[in-house]
Amino acid sequence: MVNLDDVRKANSSLVQRQPLVAVFTGGTGGIGLSTLKTLAATHSSSGRGLRVYITGRNQHATEKIIADCLNICPQGDFRFIQVADLSLLRDVDRACEEIIKEEKACVTAGTAPKLDLLFMSQGELSLKPYTTDAAEGLEFRVSLLYYSRMKTILNLLPLLLESTLPAHIVSVFAAGKEGELHLDDLSMRDPKHQGVVGTRSHVTYMTTFFFEYLASKHPGKLSLVHVYPGLILTDGFKYMPFWFRVIWRAALPVLGLFCTSLEECGQRVLYLADPDRFPARSSRGTAAAGGNSTSDLKPAAAKGTDLEHGSGAYGVTLDGETIPEQQIHQSYDKYRTGDTGKTIVAHTLKAFDDIKAGKAFTG
Ligand SMILES: NC(=O)c1ccc[n+]([C@@H]2O[C@H](COP(=O)([O-])OP(=O)(O)OC[C@H]3O[C@@H](n4cnc5c(N)ncnc54)[C@H](OP(=O)(O)O)[C@@H]3O)[C@@H](O)[C@H]2O)c1
Repeated sequence: MVNLDDVRKANSSLVQRQPLVAVFTGGTGGIGLSTLKTLAATHSSSGRGLRVYITGRNQHATEKIIADCLNICPQGDFRFIQVADLSLLRDVDRACEEIIKEEKACVTAGTAPKLDLLFMSQGELSLKPYTTDAAEGLEFRVSLLYYSRMKTILNLLPLLLESTLPAHIVSVFAAGKEGELHLDDLSMRDPKHQGVVGTRSHVTYMTTFFFEYLASKHPGKLSLVHVYPGLILTDGFKYMPFWFRVIWRAALPVLGLFCTSLEECGQRVLYLADPDRFPARSSRGTAAAGGNSTSDLKPAAAKGTDLEHGSGAYGVTLDGETIPEQQIHQSYDKYRTGDTGKTIVAHTLKAFDDIKAGKAFTG
């Protein structure tokens, strides 16, 4: 486990590197909110400039969060981006267009609009039936956890690629929770594949392969971390049935003993943007170009999901450690021999193209 003092030091060092621009999707609740407040507080003591775009469904609640952030960090610039439902790619597109437009309007002569940090933690834990949006053809839960997040990255790429940090992307969900991947049902349409555990596993595989594709495609430019936060006491169970919440509440005194506090969680999620521990893939010789050069990496660089040091796509737990090597072998070796990664990337890009063209995705 990475020591909490070292985490705080790395976070201070992050805000001292350069003025930062950040986007939070899911920053109005739980883990995202705690990370947002940690970034504001850390910047307030030693930062060099901070602009943050926060997507929110509830204008009043998000404005209150912005007021709290300004209290913590008066020199920060916190902006509300209204969204209706980020499981819909048309809403993701609209929000990203707004962010890009505002960011372009902010920059001064001689500087490029950019984005250094992207934290994504939107999600809804519920037992609601699986529902596919008729116009877009994606199931809302799978979309919130996978498609909407990957689409957000692709939409914001023009800004992310301008970061000299380089850009750090953190997706909060379930790294290390792989079990089964349904190559014959990538969109998870078969009810037999659905459910909390099935979705969690499938979406985690999809995220790993898409992150590895992005890290390879943009060496030196993007660091992508997928994190499993363990149990954090947030409002994340508010959509669960009444009976579940009663049992949950009764169990809280015991469960609380095994949870990381929200404050510590915020520190640890921000730490996942540490450029020394989670660097972008080396631009000097990547595995894809025939051999991974690690000569320009600090020894602290973590191992990526492909088990190369500093390869740009990482699966970690909240303690800052990567998923153990043996576990990665167990989960991924069977998929590394075929075209799994290419198939997942092609599926995802086709979904985005079809939906952009106004067709419901049926793949
Ligand atoms: N907490 C845990 O113990 C835990 C454990 C493992 C994994 N996770 C995963 O980590 C992520 C964050 O969890 P959390 O506990 O922080 O959740 P949370 O407290 O419920 O916060 C979820 C965030 O996502 C936003 N959101 C939900 N549905 C949305 C939609 N359709 N469109 C736009 N925004 C939407 C919420 O916005 P509103 O403020 O508008 O509701 C909120 O900002 C989730 O993906 C969760 O599955 C959590």
